[in-house]
Amino acid sequence: MNNTIIDVQNICKTFKINKRKSGFTGALANIFHPTYEYKKAVDNISFSIKEGEMVGFIGPNGAGKSTTVKMLSGILYPESGDINVAGYIPHKQRKEYVANIGVVFGQKSQISWDLSPLDSYEVIKHIYKIPNKKYKENLERFTELLDMQKFINQPVRQLSLGQRMRADIAAALLHSPKIVFFDEPTIGIDVVGKEKIRNFIKTLNKTDNITMIFTTHDMQDIEKTCERLIIIDDGKKLYDGSLENIKSNYSTSRIIEVEFEQLPEKIDIEKVTVSDVNNNKMKKLITFDTNNISVNFLMSNLLSNYSIKDISVKEPEIDAIIRDIYEGKVIVH
Ligand SMILES: Nc1ncnc2c1ncn2[C@@H]1O[C@H](COP(=O)(O)OP(=O)(O)O)[C@@H](O)[C@H]1O
Ligand SMILES: [Mg+2]
Repeated sequence: MNNTIIDVQNICKTFKINKRKSGFTGALANIFHPTYEYKKAVDNISFSIKEGEMVGFIGPNGAGKSTTVKMLSGILYPESGDINVAGYIPHKQRKEYVANIGVVFGQKSQISWDLSPLDSYEVIKHIYKIPNKKYKENLERFTELLDMQKFINQPVRQLSLGQRMRADIAAALLHSPKIVFFDEPTIGIDVVGKEKIRNFIKTLNKTDNITMIFTTHDMQDIEKTCERLIIIDDGKKLYDGSLENIKSNYSTSRIIEVEFEQLPEKIDIEKVTVSDVNNNKMKKLITFDTNNISVNFLMSNLLSNYSIKDISVKEPEIDAIIRDIYEGKVIVH
């Protein structure tokens, strides 16, 4: 459980983009004097992951998440730096390597549109030479966990995005890989579908000790599945650590929810903002900054001066903190 299984050191990837000019002379110039732009999609990223860990990789669009996953899975090679996954150098030993990993790309279905998921699974069984017993076990378990009974025999093109994604996830795991990369597996999927996917990912990580990297730009995905979080933006790593640490160290804004026994005419405390709660006149939200006023002071002030039925401190909003990190408002280390 404590062995490093993914080790990434100082990887970089730059894309060369053909800058197209418009118009007739532009078209000629494109042919005879093409000009290029360079985009450093991944800029000196390092991290290591232990066997059985589940790491959330988050960042806004264009941050370099997919490029990183592609390098980890051996689809792209890093222009500099080193990647070692389970003893393999992914892009160099691709053939042997792929038997050990599973990859899921939310934006691109990997099973055939014309076949049913079940037919695709039979093909995968053949390609990966999955033993019959293991195949049956996995298939039965995944069908149940991902709730696929209803559509496993329908052509993929008839499935909803969420169903297709679930079918895709099962496909990527049928050969029992030790390591799985999920690249935005919940993108575009409704709340219920997202929840099914998160639960499945979490269950497999726990029960089968599969090492997982999960990229997303949905903070809910991370809150519900991962303890460790790597934040990247503009190709650079901004943070690597626990979600708990982010909450307690990088946000000074807090909210206390109070339910009054008797509603006061006015809440007379400096440096707090009081707002209403929908559908309950007796409840108020008190927002404040711990730089200005301490939680303890505020709690005791409220409890001694007002008639209160219930009081609780709410967790800071992780979305807001992450936004602040992206915008450079808080410096993380
Ligand atoms: N094949 C490619 N050719 C040119 N530019 C690319 C290519 N793939 C990604 N990029 C660029 O690299 C940056 C990172 O992209 P990507 O890794 O897809 O980000 P994310 O997955 O975090 O949204 C973006 O600016 C994107 O436009
Ligand atoms: Mg992406």
